[in-house]
Amino acid sequence: MKRIDHKEIYSDGKSYDALNVFDTDVPFYSKLIAKYGQPILELACGTGRITVPIAKKGFEIVGIDISEAMINEAKEKAAEAKQDIEFIEADIRDFELNQKFSVIFLPFNSICHLHDFESIASCFSCVKKHLKPDGRFVIDVFKPDFKILLRDKNKRYECADYKNPYADNHVKLTETNWYNEADQINQVKWYFEIGEKEIEQDLNMRMFYPQELDNYLRFAGFEIEEKFGDYNGSIFTSDSSKQIIISGMRNNK
Ligand SMILES: C[S@@+](CC[C@H](N)C(=O)[O-])C[C@H]1O[C@@H](n2cnc3c(N)ncnc32)[C@H](O)[C@@H]1O
Repeated sequence: MKRIDHKEIYSDGKSYDALNVFDTDVPFYSKLIAKYGQPILELACGTGRITVPIAKKGFEIVGIDISEAMINEAKEKAAEAKQDIEFIEADIRDFELNQKFSVIFLPFNSICHLHDFESIASCFSCVKKHLKPDGRFVIDVFKPDFKILLRDKNKRYECADYKNPYADNHVKLTETNWYNEADQINQVKWYFEIGEKEIEQDLNMRMFYPQELDNYLRFAGFEIEEKFGDYNGSIFTSDSSKQIIISGMRNNK
């Protein structure tokens, strides 16, 4: 299994939240949980961007993430919101919680951190161990976009401009990328411009093509029930930017 290579990018929960200010996926997961039940397990829960609002709706949810900094931020937010959520520092490729869940989800492109087959297979095998026989496993990941992957690697592209959580100024984020077609990893470099300073960080994202991802799931023993192209529940098509897959365990329902 490949080593984790994103320690830096997830070393500061407050900056992550300042960059990722959106919650358009929360109603989607809430509806799903109302339909399929609880408890729920969020894989790669980060700062609890989804976990905390789901708990606030009265659902029992557990979050696991490999980054201590992200988990600490999640715990802080849960305490502020007076929510009793179990956050566990663990690798989604190798965990044992002694509990089964009705819904397990791997949201917001986190699967892109599983770079090789062993990582994907180990994660899916852990999911199977923790899913109730009639439970659902949900993955949300963008569809690879060739216009982005095949951009000029020497050119910087604007990415975001957001409020600095530590000072009264803004952070300007630009990026370069080079897509390795052999291992399907998009090697992104982020440049954070903060006042006079510039900080560089690497973000390596494995791309998952639609048929490939469906077949990884089938190979691991899952059956795909629905595949959406957005959080409104539109059917996944060639024009969709996202792949949102709802699957259950084959022969177990
Ligand atoms: C894009 S963030 C998503 C966080 C959160 N789910 C959200 O939607 O905002 C990806 C998260 O995956 C976590 N992560 C990456 N690889 C992991 C692994 N092998 N095991 C557990 N967490 C992992 C990172 O620490 C980071 O918090």
